[in-house]
Amino acid sequence: MAEGKSRGFEIGGLQLLAVRRAGQVYVYQNRCPHRRVPLEWHPDQFLDTSASLIQCATHGALFLIESGECIAGPCEGKSLSAITCGEDAQGIWINPPKQD
Ligand code: FES
Repeated sequence: MAEGKSRGFEIGGLQLLAVRRAGQVYVYQNRCPHRRVPLEWHPDQFLDTSASLIQCATHGALFLIESGECIAGPCEGKSLSAITCGEDAQGIWINPPKQD
């Protein structure tokens, strides 16, 4: 995954998004804390025009890539659900959360 790019994917029925920023990969559930809908504008398009924040396509909420915290919009102060992830020689891996 290239620097400054985002990507959506699904594992075990869970919708997720990944973003690489400053070399590090961050993974979150693809679900806005406002209306619990998917975030992307178009397939794999999760970032604002500056590519420095995750943006919800529905009402424009902005989230920090590093923490998932919403810093502007209707769900300000709430956060995306972070997924434990890492990267090694095999690629990017995640530790999926337990589903209810
Ligand atoms: S659904 Fe995401 S900001 Fe409203």
